[in-house]
Formats: sequence, structure tokens, C-alpha cells
Amino acid sequence: MSETITMLRAEHRVMTRLLDLLAGQVDRFELAEATDYELMKEIVDYFLTVPDLYHHPKEDLVHARMLRRGGAGAEGMHDIPAEHERGSERLHAFSRALVSILLDAEFPRDRFVQIAREFLDGERHHMQGEEKGFFPAAEEVLTVQDWAEIDERTAKLQDPIIGEDKSPRFQVLREHLG
Ligand SMILES: [Fe+2]
Repeated sequence: MSETITMLRAEHRVMTRLLDLLAGQVDRFELAEATDYELMKEIVDYFLTVPDLYHHPKEDLVHARMLRRGGAGAEGMHDIPAEHERGSERLHAFSRALVSILLDAEFPRDRFVQIAREFLDGERHHMQGEEKGFFPAAEEVLTVQDWAEIDERTAKLQDPIIGEDKSPRFQVLREHLG
């Protein structure tokens, strides 16, 4: 297995756990129980920064190489960059809804829950699709030489939570993840 695919799967595990933490807070919000808004903000901050800057470009690189190899015609092949774009839109909608909830007492609570769940469901569905379809297809289509070149380039883009060069940023989330 390529180092890039190993890294992408590890990043999915981090994101999945963060989505679970977020979902727990959305449930609490819906039930009008004490909600950890700081944690929600940290998670949104993470998703605004890390997937777009560190994770999706690696997947887009793999996808582009597959297109060159003619593997994109394979059945079930997703348009990964377009999916990332739609995910980014759901994330921004959720980010705006969170700010509205914090600043605007009139913002409908059920609307917030709906937008949050659209983001959560969308990300989970997208990652599952990549794990089941995109990653195995990439490993089938790409050559050892392709992976050597991709791995060399993606080594510079390690997730700041689990990568070797752990930045102090996201320390709160690192502690939540244990
Ligand atoms: Fe992904």
C-alpha cells in the first residue's frame, strides 16, 4: 500500500472521530443540553483548514494521476474534486450557521441542526465512498512509479494533528482525541 493511501486513511480516521465529537454536540444542542461551542468552533476551524489545505489536494493529485492512466472510466469512479467542492460548500454553510447561533438569538435552532447534519452526513458519506471506491481503484490503476512520485510530493503535506511536525494549533482537539 502506498504511503499516501496510508496517510489518507489515517486522516479519515481523525476526521471521522472529529465528526463523531461534533455530532455529539449537535445532539446536545438539539436537546437543549449544555453545548460545548468552543469544541464546535475548534472542529469547524480544523475542517476549514486541514482538509482543504492538507487532505483534499493529496486526493486530487491521486485522482489526476488516475485520469492520466485512463482509470477514471472505471465503473463507480467518483468525480473527487467536484465532491470536495460540494463538501466545502456544506462546511461553509455550517460555519456560517454556527456563527449565527453564537451571535443571533433569533436564528432558528432547528435550521442549525439541519445544516449541521447535512454537513455531518455529507462528509461521512463522502469519506465512505472514497474508502470503498476511490482508494482501492487508485491502488489498482496506479503503478509503483506513480506512487513513488505521489508519495514524494504528499510527504510535505502531513496533517498537523497526526503528522510528524505537530503544530501547537489544534492542541485542544488533540487532547479530545486522546
Ligand atoms: Fe478524503
